[in-house]
Amino acid sequence: MWGNPRTENVTTDVPGNTCRAPSTPKFMRISRILPLSQMREGRPGAATRPQEPGYDQWSLEHHGLIVDKVVEEVKPKVLLELGTYCGYSAVRMGRLLPPGGHLFTIEFNESFAAIAQQIIQLAGLQEKISILKGPTEEIIPQLKKKYEINTVDMVFLDHWKDRYLPDTRLLEESGLLRKGSVLLADNVILPGAPEFLQYIRNHKGFECTHYPSMLEYLPMKDGLEKAVFLG
Ligand SMILES: C[S@@+](CC[C@H](N)C(=O)[O-])C[C@H]1O[C@@H](n2cnc3c(N)ncnc32)[C@H](O)[C@@H]1O
Repeated sequence: MWGNPRTENVTTDVPGNTCRAPSTPKFMRISRILPLSQMREGRPGAATRPQEPGYDQWSLEHHGLIVDKVVEEVKPKVLLELGTYCGYSAVRMGRLLPPGGHLFTIEFNESFAAIAQQIIQLAGLQEKISILKGPTEEIIPQLKKKYEINTVDMVFLDHWKDRYLPDTRLLEESGLLRKGSVLLADNVILPGAPEFLQYIRNHKGFECTHYPSMLEYLPMKDGLEKAVFLG
C-alpha cells in the first residue's frame, strides 16, 4: 500500500500474521473500520474503534494516538490531509475538529476516494470533511483560489513519501503556511522520508519535534515528525 520499493515483498515474521508488510498496516486499519454493518451511522467513534477483543495487542493505536494528541493541541479550523486512502485517518482526525473546523483531504485514486466518501458519510462527518480528488501537486496550488483556503492550521502528510518534501515546498511557495501552522508527517522512518527530514530539520523557519513510535502490527521502529512553521 505504501508503494515504496524499499519495503515491497517483505513478509512479516510476527506470529500469526501472514500479511505482507507494505499492505498490512493500512489494510488492517481499514479492517478495523469494517465491517460496515457494525458501524452506526452518524457516530464517528464507531468508525475508529475496533470491534475485536484484544485489538491493542501490538499497540495498534500508537500512531493514531500521536495524531490525536497533535490535533487536540492545535485545534485546527483548517486541517489539510495529503493522502486519504479509505478515510481512516480522516475520520479519526475529523472527529476531533473544533466547532467550525474543516478537514480537506487530497486523494488521487478515484476508487479510494469513493470508498472514503462512504466511510465519512457513515461516520456522520460529511459536513466536516471534504475529499479533494487529484494529485497533491495539482491541488495544493489551487487551494487559495478554488477552495478559498487562506492558510492552513495543520497539515497531515501521509501520502507517498517522496512527495513530502516537494509538497512542503509547494505549501510554502503557495503562501498557505502562517506563523504557527503545524506539519505532522507520518512514517518518516519507515518507509522513511529522509530528504524531507533533512530539509525540515535544517530549515530555520521550522521548529521540529520527533515522535518515535513502533510500526503498527510489526515490531519495527517508525516515527512522526512535527514541524511548526515560525513564519
Ligand atoms: C498511506 S495511504 C493514506 C492513509 C490514510 N492517511 C490513513 O491513515 O487512513 C497514502 C494514500 O495517498 C495517496 N497518494 C499518494 N500520493 C499522492 C499524491 N501525490 N496525491 C494524491 N494522493 C496521493 C495514495 O493513493 C494512498 O491512498
